[in-house]
Amino acid sequence: MSEIPTLEGTPQREHWGSKFGVILAVAGSAVGLGNFLRFPGQAVNNGGGAFMIPYIVSFLILGIPICWCEWTMGRLGGRFGQNNGPGVMFALWRRGPAKGIGALTLFIPVVVYMYYVFVEAWCLQYAVHFFRGGFAELFGTALAEASGETTDVEAIVGASGAYFGESVGMANNGDVFRKGNMVWMVLICFAVNFVIIYKGVTRGIETFCKVAMPMLLVCACIILVRVLTLDGISSGLGFMWNPKWESLADPQVWLAAAGQIFFTLSVGFGLILCYSSYLRKDDDVVLTSLSASSTNEFCEVVLGGMIVVPTAFLFLGAENAAGTTFGLGFVTLPAIMHFMPGGSFFGGMWFGLLFLAAVTSSLSMLQPAIAFLEDGFGLKRTASVLLLGVITAIGAIVPMYFTHGLVGLDHTDFWCNFMMIIAATAQVLLFGWVIGAERGCREANRGADVKLPSFMPFVLRYVTPTFLLVVLGAWAFTNAPGYIDGMRPALRGVEAARGVYEPVIADHFSEENLGEEQIEARSEAILGADADPNQLPEWLAPHAEEAGKARTAAEADANAARWVFIGLVLFYGLLLGLTDIACRNRIGRNIAAAEANGVCLEA
Ligand code: PHE
Repeated sequence: MSEIPTLEGTPQREHWGSKFGVILAVAGSAVGLGNFLRFPGQAVNNGGGAFMIPYIVSFLILGIPICWCEWTMGRLGGRFGQNNGPGVMFALWRRGPAKGIGALTLFIPVVVYMYYVFVEAWCLQYAVHFFRGGFAELFGTALAEASGETTDVEAIVGASGAYFGESVGMANNGDVFRKGNMVWMVLICFAVNFVIIYKGVTRGIETFCKVAMPMLLVCACIILVRVLTLDGISSGLGFMWNPKWESLADPQVWLAAAGQIFFTLSVGFGLILCYSSYLRKDDDVVLTSLSASSTNEFCEVVLGGMIVVPTAFLFLGAENAAGTTFGLGFVTLPAIMHFMPGGSFFGGMWFGLLFLAAVTSSLSMLQPAIAFLEDGFGLKRTASVLLLGVITAIGAIVPMYFTHGLVGLDHTDFWCNFMMIIAATAQVLLFGWVIGAERGCREANRGADVKLPSFMPFVLRYVTPTFLLVVLGAWAFTNAPGYIDGMRPALRGVEAARGVYEPVIADHFSEENLGEEQIEARSEAILGADADPNQLPEWLAPHAEEAGKARTAAEADANAARWVFIGLVLFYGLLLGLTDIACRNRIGRNIAAAEANGVCLEA
């Protein structure tokens, strides 16, 4: 055999330096923008305190069990000399579908990176802007220019929103490349990530996380203390956390909770598989994974849950405190800092913290692909880093270009989340039914500081997969159709034009005291499929230009969404092809060599 098997003990194989290091690296992957921005938005819009019930159920039935599966499979795959998802999957299951799942474990992290790095750059840009006093200046001007009718809050939130829109190019596709310094910020983020990745798992990722994670925790705790000592903060905490029990009957709330668990724990789609493959054969996985997940939950529920929304409520009122993820994070939060004593400093610190949290996460999105290029094709570090750099840079152009309404980012995120659930389901089924839940749990227990509970095989075989399949089905039926429609330019164009005409029509007939249904019937007669679009009533014609613009914009968005989707499918196809080639060649040979050296699933 011409290949040298990259087996344990040979110099090529890297291992984590310490248990503390691996916990911080995995926690670093998990703790990210999801904790500080996504979670508060999800919780406040999905029942407040009541959201915690589906959230905890998902944590216990999905999060923790899938973590255990993934950690165990990764460590096992590592023994076959594989640090990459496809290799691990193929080592465990020598069949075609394993390659499909393997390609997913590359696809998801790399694609998430392509848009995550853009948001990472926003955080950096905001931190710099705060520390340079840019926001103080912006808000000062906004207040000075505000007319008598606008309140201070409106003026500040308005200015903050305008700044955000301009920074990320919300008005027109391609704005990011035409103006502003966001491109520079993205390049800096790329440089930071790839320099750390270049240094390797122990010297790069582990060392960085060992510094960044404690720093981030300290900063977040300082901000939390500042927030909790604000006068009247209990009303804000009440706004966030008072349970709205009726929300529990809404399936969307349960879906939101399950989706949040996947995103925040970075579980089920290959990162942990990659990280845990750098463990030694007898390193504990049960307690280590639990520690990393608990660190994430502390950051999410305590730090993420008590800072953004309560302060937003306190300073800006309810209407500004229940926004969406990006609205809360990049419009509301800077505005709060204007009203909070010491705001400029805390604002800079907050976005600095977000930036660190984002970097520790984005690193974990790159490592699986680096490991694949090295294990699968024998590339050297420099070559694999350069190649992945070029691929992700090309990919990142898509969400950075299609910024009108952030369509590029939104659609990429949606399809990735969808794929995450598919990948997690596939992995759990592989663990429970192919490797065998009992055998898998025995493997997990080897070297474990605490053993898995005895009912775990049952949970992994039946409970978790059932829950996952339900979530997957519900997701496909409730959320996917909207996104599929979002890729139909004709449909979206008509809807947008109607959005302009309908209020005018309603207004026109308002004097006639018509009911809603009658107004709808009139709208239909004027705009419906049977009506002639060139025969608009005279009073509606002046709005035709505006409607035309809305139609063109909506069609462009739908086309962008379509390109995003096609791009994703092609990219997955490419990865599948590469996975197949690698498994037939280098990966396959190395697995065979490992087996010849006595490595097997049961050890
Ligand atoms: N878990 C990270 C967060 O909470 C996000 C993430 C998603 C990281 C996908 C890796 C992969 O922000």
